[in-house]
Amino acid sequence: MKIRIAHISDPHFGANNPDVVQSLTTRLLELQPDLIIMTGDITQRARLDQFKAAHAFVESLKQFQWAVVPGNHDIPLYNLSRRFFAPYSHYETAFEGQIEKKIPLEQVQVFTFDSTSRFRLVQGALSQKQIKDLVRKKLIQTDVRIACFHHPVDCPKRVDEKNLLRNRDQVMKVFAETKMDLVLGGHIHDPFVTLSGERYPDIQRQSVISVAGTCLSWRTRAGAPNSFHLIDVDVDPHHQPRMTISRNDLDASGSFSPILVQSFFRQLDLGWSKQENL
Ligand SMILES: [Fe+2]
Ligand SMILES: [Fe+2]
Repeated sequence: MKIRIAHISDPHFGANNPDVVQSLTTRLLELQPDLIIMTGDITQRARLDQFKAAHAFVESLKQFQWAVVPGNHDIPLYNLSRRFFAPYSHYETAFEGQIEKKIPLEQVQVFTFDSTSRFRLVQGALSQKQIKDLVRKKLIQTDVRIACFHHPVDCPKRVDEKNLLRNRDQVMKVFAETKMDLVLGGHIHDPFVTLSGERYPDIQRQSVISVAGTCLSWRTRAGAPNSFHLIDVDVDPHHQPRMTISRNDLDASGSFSPILVQSFFRQLDLGWSKQENL
């Protein structure tokens, strides 16, 4: 069984280059993913016209399965009455049914979480209710389990420590218990792939962490142009499950192309490890 996932994040519709939308669409059509996961900051300011542009982009690729979660930019910043009383109204108008959407792929169980809050502008957390619900959920027999939410559980630079999910230690423990394979996030616009054991060495079962960069926004960081991650998972009863993640960057010619590929394999109780020599 092979499953191909495109992990895109932080498009920030309303603060994006329209040409890059076309480049990303072209590349996704070439790659034919089974599933596209978009981990938040869909818009720049949570305005209805920005959600409509995002929705048009999703609709243009509607032959693929989608999972979409909100980011801190998808909650109104200045419209206080909307922010406190109906923070997700525009998101819901455009993406009705996307939170907790059931993905009809038998081999994959996708857990979508909203890590944002109307009371926090930037920082994110999963609520105790979300964590309890996950633990209570009956885990179906499946090949791959994926958790997706906006705020990352690890970052490559010290300056982004403040942007990490607030209750990440508790959440990562629960993810190990629930045998989560992949933990997807965005938010820092700094693409990064790592194993959970790097930051959480006390947790025995390792999952793979994918933090995608910004796929469309102008707000890129040094060394990180617009990008996304392509995740190929291969689960076959005759060998250990394997996964490769390739970072696709927007190059000088205006196309997305792979620049870095990392490979992983899964062992029963230890979870995922890095495949060093390919
Ligand atoms: Fe963002
Ligand atoms: Fe964000």
